[in-house]
Amino acid sequence: MYQHLTDKNLALDLVRVTEAGALAAAHYFGKGDKEAADGAAVDAMRIAFQGLHIRGTVIIGEGEKDHAPMLYNGESVGFGDGPEVDVAVDPVEGTSAVANGRLNAVSVVGVAQKGSMFNPGHSFYCKKIAVGREAAGVIDLDAPVKDNLLKIARAVGKPITEVNVFVLDKPRHKKLVQDIRMAGARVNLHNDGDVAGALMAVDPRSHIDLLIGTGGTPEAVITACAIKGSGGQILTRLDPQTEEERKRLIEDGIDLNVIRGVDDLITSDQCFFAATGVSEGEVLAGVQYEGEYAITTSLTTRGRTGTMRYIQAWHNRKKLAKMSTILY
Ligand code: FBP
Repeated sequence: MYQHLTDKNLALDLVRVTEAGALAAAHYFGKGDKEAADGAAVDAMRIAFQGLHIRGTVIIGEGEKDHAPMLYNGESVGFGDGPEVDVAVDPVEGTSAVANGRLNAVSVVGVAQKGSMFNPGHSFYCKKIAVGREAAGVIDLDAPVKDNLLKIARAVGKPITEVNVFVLDKPRHKKLVQDIRMAGARVNLHNDGDVAGALMAVDPRSHIDLLIGTGGTPEAVITACAIKGSGGQILTRLDPQTEEERKRLIEDGIDLNVIRGVDDLITSDQCFFAATGVSEGEVLAGVQYEGEYAITTSLTTRGRTGTMRYIQAWHNRKKLAKMSTILY
């Protein structure tokens, strides 16, 4: 098993899965139908998964088996040979963004050595803060936001007035947004897409310096898989948003005070990640069309080596349509 994972960079195979998801979802860009976008991506990724030489179990997928016919939590994916791995898949991270023609929607998959991926269970939301390599050692989930901003500003070598913060535009973040502005930093509000936001925070080419706020717990695990090996950090604590969510977690015996970082969310560095842009973003371009080609831009990362690859692919839709049932 160890041998398998060291020899092969699974991320290079994973990218074909996220390309398939992004290409299928992109047909629904701006069409107002988020279920159709997600459904098309699920269908395409499920087919693409079959070509992967892994014995995968979906830890983070489309939900419980009763609600999701495919890529449900617990489903086995992959060809059925090769390493045993945990799988996290979000066919469209930012379904509303695709439906409404907005930025930052991506198709993502992470895999990690079996047993090493944090299972969110009944947790939907967590508090999170994500930064790149330079500021990884200075963040504190419990510190006042101003303290974090001052330390991050120092670490990245800018005045606090030039620090850019990615925040989801949600009523729950009203006070957070006020505090960031009071501290003098710049708030970049986005309706959705905090995996893309975290990728921006970690990518030195992006103008975003950190992501902060409460977002999806599954998205936090996927982010950890993406940034493990980069030197970046994400700190999280479960943050149930309803009484029902809180109750379920307490019934499950979960300690709501625990802070989990990148190495708690993904405990093995034998992890791989791929993301392909569906709509335009700062780190990944969205799907574009040029004659009979569809063009995708993807990122792959590998935990053990820290290698990041940006891959542009030109897909000949005419030829592929004859060979495959995937919607290219
Ligand atoms: P989807 O993948 O379900 O479209 O999630 C988009 C997203 O914006 C995530 O990036 C984020 O973590 C989560 O939703 C926030 O949830 P909510 O919109 O309920 O506040």
